[in-house]
This record gives sequence, C-alpha cells and structure tokens, in this order.
Amino acid sequence: ACTRRVFSGIQPTGIPHIGNYVGAIKNWLQLQKKYDSMILSVVDLHSITLPQNPETLRENIYDMTACLLACGIDSDKCILFQQSTVPQHTQLAWILGCICTLPRLEHLAQWKEKSEKNKDVGTGLLTYPILQSADILLYKATDVPVGKDQIQHIELSRDLAKSFNTKFGVLFPKPQELLGPLPKIKSLKNPKNKMSKSEINPMGRIDLTDEPDQIREKIKKAVTDSTSEITYDPENRPGVANLIEIHEALTGDFAEDICETAMLESMDTHKYKLLLTDIVIEKLKPIREEFFRLQKDRHHLDTVLEKGRLNASEIAEVTYKEVTKLVGF
Ligand code: ADP
Ligand code: NA
Repeated sequence: ACTRRVFSGIQPTGIPHIGNYVGAIKNWLQLQKKYDSMILSVVDLHSITLPQNPETLRENIYDMTACLLACGIDSDKCILFQQSTVPQHTQLAWILGCICTLPRLEHLAQWKEKSEKNKDVGTGLLTYPILQSADILLYKATDVPVGKDQIQHIELSRDLAKSFNTKFGVLFPKPQELLGPLPKIKSLKNPKNKMSKSEINPMGRIDLTDEPDQIREKIKKAVTDSTSEITYDPENRPGVANLIEIHEALTGDFAEDICETAMLESMDTHKYKLLLTDIVIEKLKPIREEFFRLQKDRHHLDTVLEKGRLNASEIAEVTYKEVTKLVGF
C-alpha cells in the first residue's frame, strides 16, 4: 500500500463492453487493492455535455454502478460515488474556470474534434476539462489512470493546480497520469477501429451483460479474413489479431502461446472462434448474473452510493473550505 491517491471517473453511458472492461475496469480492480485511497466516480455531470434523455441517464447511473460492483469494484476498498451528489465538484470547477484562459481550452484536441462533429454545442463541451480538473484536485489526487487521449486533460489539471498554487497559496499536489500498458480492443465488425459504445452496429461489441447466445452470434460473425490458420499479425490480419487480444486480455495467456496451441490442435478460424466463445461466455457469466441481481436491488445500489457520497464529501468539504479561504470568500 502507498500514500498516493487515485481518482478516476467513468461516464454513465450504458452497459460497458469488454473493451471498457479490459481497458479500464480491470485496471481499477488492481488499483483498489494497491492503493489505500482510491476514488471512483460515476461522472454524471460529464454526460450531459451532449444531448441526453433524463430517464435514460437515471437508469444509466444505476446500471454503471451495478456493473462496476458486478465486476468486482468493492465499496470497502475504494470510494464509489455519483459525481453530482458532491456539489463541491461544480463549485471548484467555477473557481478553476476563472483562472483558465479561453485559448487554453480551445487548443484541446477533444474540443476541436467534438465541436466539429456536433453543431450548436453548449459551453459545457468546451469547459468540461475544467470540471475534470476539479474532480481530480478536489481530492488532491496524485494518480489518474487514463488512456492516451486524456493526457492533455491531465496536463490541464496540472497547469490549473500550478496557477492556483501560485496565485492563492500552495494547496494542490501535481496530479500525474497513470498510463498502464492497457490493451485496445477493436470492433468485431470493423477491426481497424476500437470497440466503442458509439459504434452504431451493436455486432461490433460484446457488452458485459450479453447473453451466451448473443456472444456466440457476435464472435461467429466477427470479421476475419480468407486465411484459415491462427496467426497473430495485427497489421495484416487485424480481425484475427483482435480475437487473440480479447483472449489474451481475458485469460492472461500470451498471443504466442495461443497461436501455438491453435496450431497444435489444427484449429482454423471457425474452430478458434468456438474456443474463444466459450472463454468469453465463461468469463462474463458471473458478471452478468451479479449485474442482473444488483440491478433489481435499487435499495442496495442507493446504499452503496450514499456511503460513497458521505466518504467523498468528507474529503471534498475540507479541500473546498481550504480553497475558499485562500480565494477570499
Ligand atoms: P466508448 O468508446 O465505448 O464510449 P469511453 O471513451 O467512454 O468508451 O471509455 C471509457 C473507458 O474505457 C476509458 O478508460 C477507455 O480508455 C476505455 N476503453 C474504451 N474503449 C476501449 C477499447 N476498445 N479497448 C480498451 N479500452 C477501451
Ligand atoms: Na484500496
């Protein structure tokens, strides 16, 4: 155990897929064991930056909470809470916003990309990286597990911490991104792109709550190529390589050994897909069962989130008091 503190957030945007599982959730399972202090937030405030439906959002917050618990996130080993229930996130975001320049935000790659794709966007889409900085700094987090696409935003949180410390007095530690060697799972239908909730074709992803029949169908129809042997060649055989990477990520076996076994047993892609299907079904079974059990138990989910709110608030209130004192309120 160590004295550093981890903060991470996940948007409540529906049931996570196996890409989210191996690329984020599985990492949190390790971190909650390793760190004495880990804070994991279902960041609902971030998920209203683009048009949303209130009923769906409410369901999604419960679903994400149930899913995280079903995967093994333990509310005794980390603080699991819903972002909007701790009002200091938005309060600190306002103060940080007042020391963040407009060009600093406009230069962020995600803003450029998202504002081009979506018309008539709200200012929240521009300023949400400030809220993200507030999420981190409110808990004086030192370590922030993120993907490469989020490094710029962690840089922003470092810059804002530094600006605040210089202007008002030293308060915030410098947050550091934790970049694990996390695998990127690709779409089963389009293996050049990552598996994503935003892919329109649902056959491209395997959700953590998919039934065995759905998993079987999706892997059966996964794009491969005309070569029948199992070889690991992401460049030339992205479809097959992706299946092997899913296998690797779920079992811990190495691609090399997976290919050797496939060769020894003279498996073609069809046979290999059947093997992988069994592995995925087996791995997701306990998660799916626990998810549906928890999903029906709103009382338990409310209890978990309330405990998280209290524990998060305890830290957030102290930091925010220090902030307001330094700022002059
Ligand atoms: P999505 O594209 O499905 O909306 P997000 O962008 O919300 O996923 O990412 C949520 C978390 O899951 C992030 O930590 C991200 O790095 C991880 N993640 C998303 N897609 C994948 C993937 N295909 N493979 C590995 N990790 C992924
Ligand atoms: Na812990």
